[in-house]
Amino acid sequence: MLSVKALRAGYGRSEVIDDLSLRVDAGEAVAVIGPNGAGKTTLLNALMGLNPQATGQMSWRGQPLGRGTAARLRAGMALVPERRELFGGLSVIDNLRLGAYLRRREPASALKADVEFVFGLFPVLQERQSQMAQTLSGGEQQMLAIGRALMARPQLLLLDEPSTGLAPRITLQILQALDGLRASRGLALLLVEQNARLALRFSGRAYVLEMGEVVLDGPSAELSHDARVIDSYLGSGATHA
Ligand SMILES: Nc1ncnc2c1ncn2[C@@H]1O[C@H](COP(=O)(O)OP(=O)(O)OP(=O)(O)O)[C@@H](O)[C@H]1O
Ligand SMILES: [Mg+2]
Repeated sequence: MLSVKALRAGYGRSEVIDDLSLRVDAGEAVAVIGPNGAGKTTLLNALMGLNPQATGQMSWRGQPLGRGTAARLRAGMALVPERRELFGGLSVIDNLRLGAYLRRREPASALKADVEFVFGLFPVLQERQSQMAQTLSGGEQQMLAIGRALMARPQLLLLDEPSTGLAPRITLQILQALDGLRASRGLALLLVEQNARLALRFSGRAYVLEMGEVVLDGPSAELSHDARVIDSYLGSGATHA
C-alpha cells in the first residue's frame, strides 16, 4: 500500500534519515524500533509530509504520493504524534470533530457515526466528551489523539510511541483496540516504539532503525529471536516475552 524508497529527511544541514526504504501493505502492522535519536519521529513526520526537507520516492497503491500533509491525509494516512498535540482548551468531542477537518463537507450524520465509532472503541471518551482535553489523564489523552486521527478515516495509522508515559495496562488496552481494528477493518499500522518487546508483539514485520538507517528488518517473530535485537533492545528477559 505505502512504498518508500531512497527517503532522506533532516533539519538544515543535519541529515537524519539517510536513504531509507520501507513498505507497509494493506492491513499489516509494521513496527519501527530503535534508540532515542535514531530518527523515528523524523521518519514518521517525513512520511506524513511534515518534514519540508524530505526527498525520495513515495507511492501509495502504486501511484506517486503528493507532497504535503493534506495529500497524505487524503490518500488515507493519519499520524498520532509523539506529543499528542491535542487542542487542550477544547472539549473531547471538539478535538474529535477537528480530526475530520478534511471531511467537513460530508453530511453531519457521517461524522456523528464516526464519533460514535471512536466512543465504542474507547468508551471513557464518551463519558468525558465535554471535558477539556488538557484535563484528561495521560491514557485518556492518548486515546483521544488516536480517536482524532481515526476521524480522518485512515487506511494507515502512524503511531509515534503510543506507550510513552502510560501504565502498561493502558498501553496494552490501546494496542489491543488498534489490533482489533486491523483485524476487523484492515487498518494498517506503522508503530514506532522504544518499547521493542511490545512493538514486536503487536506487529507482523519490523524495521530496526539506528542513526537514520535501517540496520535490520524482517518478520517480528524472527527479530524477537535475533541475537542483535535481544542484546540491544530486549535484554535478558527476552525468552519470557
Ligand atoms: N526540529 C529539529 N531541528 C533540528 N534537529 C532535530 C529536530 N528534531 C529532531 N532533530 C534531531 O534529529 C535526530 C533524530 O530525532 P528524532 O526525534 O527523529 O529521533 P527519535 O528516534 O524519534 O528519538 P526518540 O526515541 O527520543 O523520540 C536527533 O539528533 C534530533 O536532535
Ligand atoms: Mg521520537
